[in-house]
Amino acid sequence: MNRILVTSALIYANGPLHIGHLAGAYLPADIYTKYNRLKGNDIIHICGTDEHGIPVTIKAEQLGISPKDIVDKYHKEIYKDFENLHIDFDNFSRTSSPLHHKMAKEFFLKIHKKGLIEKKEGQQLYCPKCERFLADRYIEGECPYCHSENARGDQCEVCGKWIEPTQLINARCKICGTIPKIKKTYHWYFLLDKMQNQLEDWIESKKTWKSNVKSFAKGWFKEGLKSRAITRDMKWGVPVPLDDAKGKVLYVWFDAPIGYISSTIEWANEIGKPELWKEYWFGKDTKLIHFIGKDNIVFHAIVWPAMLLGYNNEIIMPSEIPANEFLNIESRKISTSRNWAIWVKDFLDVFPADFLRYYLAANLPENSDMDFKWKEFQAKINGELADILGNLVNRTYVFINRYFDGLVPEPDTFDNTDNKLIQSINNASEDIGSLFEKFHIRQATFQLMNLAREGNKYFDFKKPWVLIKEDKRKCATTLYLLTNLINTISTLFTPIIPEGMKKIKNALEQENNSWDNASKLNIKPRTRFNNPGILYKKIDDKIIRREEERLMNNSNIEKEIKNNIEMTKDDYVTIEDIHKLGLKVAEIVNAERVNETDKLVKLFIRIGKEDRQIIAGIAKHYNIEELIGKKIIIVSNMKPAKIRGIESKGMLLAASDTNTMSLLTVDRDISSGVEIKC
Ligand code: MF3
Ligand code: ZN
Repeated sequence: MNRILVTSALIYANGPLHIGHLAGAYLPADIYTKYNRLKGNDIIHICGTDEHGIPVTIKAEQLGISPKDIVDKYHKEIYKDFENLHIDFDNFSRTSSPLHHKMAKEFFLKIHKKGLIEKKEGQQLYCPKCERFLADRYIEGECPYCHSENARGDQCEVCGKWIEPTQLINARCKICGTIPKIKKTYHWYFLLDKMQNQLEDWIESKKTWKSNVKSFAKGWFKEGLKSRAITRDMKWGVPVPLDDAKGKVLYVWFDAPIGYISSTIEWANEIGKPELWKEYWFGKDTKLIHFIGKDNIVFHAIVWPAMLLGYNNEIIMPSEIPANEFLNIESRKISTSRNWAIWVKDFLDVFPADFLRYYLAANLPENSDMDFKWKEFQAKINGELADILGNLVNRTYVFINRYFDGLVPEPDTFDNTDNKLIQSINNASEDIGSLFEKFHIRQATFQLMNLAREGNKYFDFKKPWVLIKEDKRKCATTLYLLTNLINTISTLFTPIIPEGMKKIKNALEQENNSWDNASKLNIKPRTRFNNPGILYKKIDDKIIRREEERLMNNSNIEKEIKNNIEMTKDDYVTIEDIHKLGLKVAEIVNAERVNETDKLVKLFIRIGKEDRQIIAGIAKHYNIEELIGKKIIIVSNMKPAKIRGIESKGMLLAASDTNTMSLLTVDRDISSGVEIKC
C-alpha cells in the first residue's frame, strides 16, 4: 500500500487565520486527507507554524513585544481555529522548537559539506537611521521585473518573483522610510545555479502537475537559476552552525520547509515510534504532497527540491504540489494590513464550520483566483446545503417516521427509475474519488450536491405521499432507496462537511464509514432512522448584512475612499489639475461619531459661508473634542459620495503611517474658505 505524506504550508505565526489561508492550502489538504482516510490509505497530514523570519519580527516590533511572545500567541490561536474548523493534523509543530533547530542545522551542514553552500562577500542595504541591515520585508521598492510598487525585499507579491533587496528600484526602509545605503557584508549562498539541470529534468518528468506550477518553474529556468543568500543578520531564527557566522541566522525560507521533516519526527516521537518518520521520508513508495498557495510555488518547486537533492540521495522528492491561486473578498484582494479579511474566529462565532467548508470547497481557487462574496455565500448555503441536502434528509426522515414507525421499510422489486438511482449510488464513490485523487475538489463538491439534487428529483417523481395510499410497497421501495442514497452521500460528503454528515450517520446509527463500501446499499430494512434534527439552518438576510458591514467597518475605509479616485501613475499633473481639486481651508464646527462604526466621524465643516458635511475615517485617531475648531484642508470638488448611507461632500487631507495619523492643517490663523494656491 502507498504511503502518503501530506503537508500544508507552515503558516506564519504573525497573525490569526483567515479564509484566504484556508482556500489556498489547509482546506484542500484536509479534504484530501479525510478522503484518503476513508479509503483506508496510510496517510499523515503534517503542518505547523513558521515562526522565524521578518514577518514575525516586524509584527513584534509593531506591537512592541518580543518575537517569542508573538509566536506563542499565534501558534495557539491558529491551532484553535483549525480545530474548530475540523481541519485535522497528525502533527502541528513549531519551527522555534529545539528539535527543528537541530534538524535545520543538520540540513545546512550537509548541503554545505557537499559544496553547494558558499560564503561570499556581497552588498546589502543598510538603514543608517535604524542602524541595521535591511533584509526581506524590512525593505520595499519597485519590482525590477514587473515594476509594481511596494515589492518587498524578498519577493514581489504581484509577479511572484524572488528578489534580492539590492535589485529593488527606489528601495526604502519599511520601518522609517529612509533611503538605505549599500554596505559590504558577507553571507552564505545556496548555489542553485549548479543544480539547474538536475532540477529541470526532475520537473520535466512530472506529467500530472498543474500548469501554474510547471510554467512558473519553467520561467525561472529560462532566466537561469542564481545563487541566493540563505543567511541573514538577525537574532531571531536558527543560528548558522559555523564558527565564522556569529550573529547570522538561516533565512526563514531555508529553515521553514525543513519543518515538514522535524514535524514528522515530532509526530513519530509522540506516538512512541521514533523511527517511523524515516519510512515516510525515505520510503521510495511515499507520495509526498505539498499543499500551498501560489505565492509559495518557487520555494516548493525549486528551492526546497534543491535542498532535498543537496541533502542526500535517499530522501524523497515531492510527488505533487497542488498550488492554489488566491481567494479575493468581494472582488478585492485580501489585505491583512488593511484588515480586508474575514477571520476564521469571527466567522465561527456566527456560523457552523460546515458553512465555510462547503462554500470554500465549492469555490476553491484551483485554476484561477476566486471570490468570497457574502451574498453568494448566503445563497449557496440556503439554496444548496439547506434546501437541497438538508431538505432531502429531512423529508425522508419525516416520511419514514410518520408512515413506517421510524424504521426503514423493506423494498419491493425495482423499476427503471429505481435502477437509475441505484446506478448513481453504485458509481458515486469511484466517480467522486477519482476527482479527489486529481485534486479537483470543486468539481467533487458540485457532483456530490448533484447527487442530493437527484435524490430530491426522485422523491418528487415517485410522490411517496400518493404511493402511500395507492401502492404501499412501491412507497416502501422509494423510502428504502432514498435512505440508502442519503447514507452514501453522508460518507462521501464527510471530507467536505464532516459535522452535518456525522449527524446523518448518528441518525442512522452507522459507524462503519468506508469509501469503497459507500456505493453499496448498506442500509438494511428495519434500520432505525432517528431524528437528525435540522441539518443546516438557513441564514437570515439580517445576519449577512451585519457581516458585510463588519467587513467594511473593520477595514481601512479611508484608504478605500482614496483609492476610488483613479489616477494613472504615469500622468504628470499640471497646475490646472491642482486647481481642479478645489483645495480649501475649512473649519470644523461640529463633529459626531457615526453610530455602529469605530472608524467614522461625521464632520460639520464651514468653508467660507458654506456649511457642509463630510465623513472621515479618523475616529481611531482623534477625539471629537479635539476636532472641533480645527482648520483643515479639504478637497472641495470631490464628487459627493454616500458612505454607509450618509452623504459626504468633500474629502479631508491627512497623512498616516502604520501608527499615526495627522490631519493637514494650516500653521497660521487664516480664515476658512481660503483657496490653497501653489
Ligand atoms: N510561512 C509561509 C507562508 O505562509 C509558508 C512556509 S511553507 C514552508 O507563506 F515550506 F516553508 F514551510
Ligand atoms: Zn530605517
